[in-house]
Amino acid sequence: MEDFTEFRKLSLPLIEKEMENFINEYTANEKLKEAMLYSIHAGGKRFRPLLVLATIRSFNKEVEVHDYQVGAALEMVHTYSLIHDDLPAMDDDDLRRGKPTNHKVFGEAYAILAGDGLLTAAFQLIAISQLESNQKILLIQLLSKAAGTQGMVAGQAGDLQGEKRALSLSELANVHEKKTGDLIEFALLAGGILANQPKEVVDLLGVFAQHLGLAFQIKDDLLDATSSEEELGKQVGRDEALNKSTYPILLGLDGAKKALEEQLAIGNDTLEKIKQTSSEFQSELLHELLEQLRLG
Ligand code: IPE
Ligand code: IPE
Ligand code: MG
Ligand code: MG
Ligand code: MG
Repeated sequence: MEDFTEFRKLSLPLIEKEMENFINEYTANEKLKEAMLYSIHAGGKRFRPLLVLATIRSFNKEVEVHDYQVGAALEMVHTYSLIHDDLPAMDDDDLRRGKPTNHKVFGEAYAILAGDGLLTAAFQLIAISQLESNQKILLIQLLSKAAGTQGMVAGQAGDLQGEKRALSLSELANVHEKKTGDLIEFALLAGGILANQPKEVVDLLGVFAQHLGLAFQIKDDLLDATSSEEELGKQVGRDEALNKSTYPILLGLDGAKKALEEQLAIGNDTLEKIKQTSSEFQSELLHELLEQLRLG
């Protein structure tokens, strides 16, 4: 298997190309297209599509066009969630991926529409992809569950409710699981399904993803409290300003760091379990993506 740097370097342009080509070809309004492409081109770590592709490569399967299409669809849903998350009615942020937020450039109405467009386009892309029909239906079902009212959207509602009263730790873990964990879980489940893995392996990938997802949001909360605008490309200190419930606010910085370490440790243990369950599985790429969440 290629090393992580090489894998990332090869994968990123192909994910970008899928998103860009689809939006260019299937958007019937120039200003809407410009607003959608603005946030897509602003960059970002592309953590979720890389997870889809890394999972497929972990089973030594070649990545095919339809796999990039699924990764691109997931990144489009994620980018929509960020555009709406930044709106004045939500987190009211001015900077995202090192650039002014979508509504700062295009106005709130176009930012809402750009989000609507990216969300819908994601499902259209999977529906017209080169996947065979059964996999399409399964992935559309899983992505709608992860992104929608049982997943990310419900988590965002819980996040807003956490501004009005301090959530308990288990309530907060549940909000994090939904608003962030569920799209990350989709990435791993989709990767396992696209690599034609049996249910017991896909289920374990889901367990790994839950710990990865919680770790991801705890780290995001920690960076909001400790990092800088230059480093993150987004405003910092927003959680405290908005009176959010977060791990650092509930547990203190040290408590939140410990919670992050715990999730990473369980994630690593789960990779070992997957190895024991599947003789094909190589954990390096997923291990590398998990390790990126360790605080430097
Ligand atoms: C930010 O996601 C929102 C969260 C779910 C914490 P990312 O940290 O993946 O943002 P980008 O895609 O790299 O900009
Ligand atoms: C965002 O969480 C989760 C989403 C579903 C978009 P945050 O509100 O903490 O993400 P950032 O810090 O703005 O990127
Ligand atoms: Mg938010
Ligand atoms: Mg936010
Ligand atoms: Mg945050």
